[in-house]
Amino acid sequence: MSASRGRPIRLGLLGLGTVGLAAYDLLRRNQDEITRRSGHALQVVAVARRDTQAARRCVDDSVQVLADGHALVTHAEVDVVVELMGGIDPAKQWVLAAIDAGKHVVTANKALLALHGNEIFARARERGVVVAFEAAVAGGIPIIKTLREGLSANRIQWVAGIINGTTNFILTQMRQKGLDFSSALAQAQALGYAEADPTFDIEGVDAAHKIALVSAMAFGVRVQFDRVHVEGITQLQAADMRYAEQLGYRIKLLGITKRVDNGVELRVHPTLLPQRSLLASVEDAMNAVMVCGDAVGSTLYYGKGAGGDPTASAVVADVLDVARLMDADAVHHAPALAFQPSAVDDGPVLPQDEVVTSYYLRLRVRDEAGVLAQLTAILAQRHISLDAVIQREAQGDEATPHTDLIVLTHAAREGVMNQAIAAMQALDVVVQPVVRLRREVFA
Ligand code: NDP
Ligand code: HSE
Repeated sequence: MSASRGRPIRLGLLGLGTVGLAAYDLLRRNQDEITRRSGHALQVVAVARRDTQAARRCVDDSVQVLADGHALVTHAEVDVVVELMGGIDPAKQWVLAAIDAGKHVVTANKALLALHGNEIFARARERGVVVAFEAAVAGGIPIIKTLREGLSANRIQWVAGIINGTTNFILTQMRQKGLDFSSALAQAQALGYAEADPTFDIEGVDAAHKIALVSAMAFGVRVQFDRVHVEGITQLQAADMRYAEQLGYRIKLLGITKRVDNGVELRVHPTLLPQRSLLASVEDAMNAVMVCGDAVGSTLYYGKGAGGDPTASAVVADVLDVARLMDADAVHHAPALAFQPSAVDDGPVLPQDEVVTSYYLRLRVRDEAGVLAQLTAILAQRHISLDAVIQREAQGDEATPHTDLIVLTHAAREGVMNQAIAAMQALDVVVQPVVRLRREVFA
């Protein structure tokens, strides 16, 4: 797979949708600048999508249009396969076929890598080719390169990020414009932010794919998507967004991974963040990732996390890197997941019950004497310390008077908090399911 300096690098684009088309256009638009940087012209020689007529309308006559992805990834004239079709099947077979055919691969497919990355990266190492995936996490933000190279001197302590543009867009539209959930989601889909299956976005699965990759790169552990604790935004209620705001917090869907004494935390869930914190001010489809290393301290990376052009920016940067690496022996490639494969350990992911954080609780209770005392007794018995308790008027016209109690706690182990919530729920005076959200400060 060595290319003499100056030889054009021939690309095959597998998928020509939001990201594929944007990558094709970007390669053309910035052709001269890209060649000046890479030392090679990057030429798209073939594209594949099932709707070949649509593809034909979008590309130059010189580009071969195929309906069969397998034909593209084994094409004799393709040096680098750029997988932008998404999904697991047949993307996995075709990525592996490309690797087996000795082709380098660039992909934006976080679902594929979160589920099968360990196998795919191992196969690529065996064959001496690169699988590059900058676009798989946080769209245009170069967080993969940052973790692999820029911060490689550090012992990383934690990473926390808004890493799904669709949900951040929805939460922002709901809060700022009072839009309902489905209209905000429809807008995100129209803007090309959402996954083919948008439940991946709104249920937190897409963020879980990404944080599983980030965690592996931050701590030198295997990609462990099946161990991520995942909660999306579909259960979030407008009342909690409003109360959070009144209390000086903003709710964001975060991907969080932390190194703790007994393992690694790996979780995605809506999180209350102080309104004035950097992450809380990240709006619309913007993403932001904070990484804390022992030497560098806290660092923040901000940018567009979804959409054609920003994602294409990361895809094309990967292609450029691959073009430069084509002259290098595989032994000189940086490890895909930032750590030497022989040094990767099976660091345990903490069960969510063992995670320690602080909480926001909302309880719809009967508005009568002694209720607060019963609730605080339950918390006190479990050594959960209160930070604040606020009573708010409940909405609606109910026959018996009810009220909302909002409780902010200090840090507690989640298993203990779950016991406390179950005990509260069992009280006659608690008339609706207790709402529990986690509260964090990343600075
Ligand atoms: P789209 O759905 O817009 O595009 C997918 C493309 O793949 C289409 O051209 C489709 O064409 C083609 N395709 C799908 N299945 C096949 C198949 N079996 N054979 C050949 N072609 C196929 O997706 P996106 O561009 O939004 O996403 C692509 C990838 O990038 C995904 O992995 C996604 O997670 C990732 N990504 C997307 C971002 C975004 O903001 N959109 C951001 C970051 C990553 P046809 O139907 O004609 O076959
Ligand atoms: N659907 C993803 C998002 C695309 O909304 O963030 C970027 O990975």
